Amino acid sequence: MVPAKHIISTKQFLDKVLLEDLFAQATSLSKMPLNEYPKPLENLTLATVFFEPSTRTRLSFETAIQNLGGHLITVENAGEFSSTKKGESLEDTIKTLNAYADGIVLRHPEIGSAERAATVSKVPIINAGDGAGDHPTQALLDLYTIQKSHDKIDKLKIGVVGDLEHSRTQHALIYLLSLFDVELFLISPAELQLPKEEQTYLRKQGITFHTLTSWKDVIGELDVIYINRVQKERFKFMEDYLALKDSFILTMESVKQMKKSAIIMNPLPRINEIDLAVDDDPRAIYFEQVKNGLYVRMALLQHIFSI
Ligand code: NCD
Repeated sequence: MVPAKHIISTKQFLDKVLLEDLFAQATSLSKMPLNEYPKPLENLTLATVFFEPSTRTRLSFETAIQNLGGHLITVENAGEFSSTKKGESLEDTIKTLNAYADGIVLRHPEIGSAERAATVSKVPIINAGDGAGDHPTQALLDLYTIQKSHDKIDKLKIGVVGDLEHSRTQHALIYLLSLFDVELFLISPAELQLPKEEQTYLRKQGITFHTLTSWKDVIGELDVIYINRVQKERFKFMEDYLALKDSFILTMESVKQMKKSAIIMNPLPRINEIDLAVDDDPRAIYFEQVKNGLYVRMALLQHIFSI
């Protein structure tokens, strides 16, 4: 039997040819009218099991499988509405879903949960976020968005901003960016810096990066500013969150200092880290990012289920 193609970490995508194939497929899907989509997943069922809230990740996977002709089963708010509430283990939940589904999209609050699920699953597990760990499919759509907007990734100056300690989106993206000749600006409060593991990886890959607590001196140089909310749910003490939640707020005043060609990204949800007035600026592309997520996830599902 061919082993299942689990998608656990961006570290599985450190291959430019694979990325180019996925992105080419996403672009071709984005140009097709809905009624012309191929239906290669016609006899397949995808399960979406989310133990943490989600709008975009869950709904884009659910749209993607249906666009490609497949079926969907879902447990929304799985911590409350699945047998986990009665004390069932994640492993038993996954083994059960193996009886119904050909693939499982899992979001769970614990780092390493997707990997745990994969050890007991005969069908592919897709990590849709494991706590403050990884979020590989978001990183793929983020890289796709950067590539699409700038027509390249090499030579870009990229600022990642916000809660770099807990943001799985940023952890995941760092690995993909390291494949390219980029200069990174890690901008966060001193308390919320990018974890050592990712910093060590960047160093090992020879990526030039700067650790900053303000964007003041660099905002005019950046080609990409990717800002994320402070991750409230990861804090042990509410007072720590409250002290840091307003550390970075992008307003038009700062946007005016940015390059005309720069892009402003956010994985969403946006809380207060980007002022609403910024939405009308052509550099704000976070809702385009959402759309790209659908095509990238469609391409990824085709990749996972291809023989
Ligand atoms: C992100 C997540 O869940 O990590 N959201 C998403 O998937 N688009 C980012 C976040 O919650 O801040």
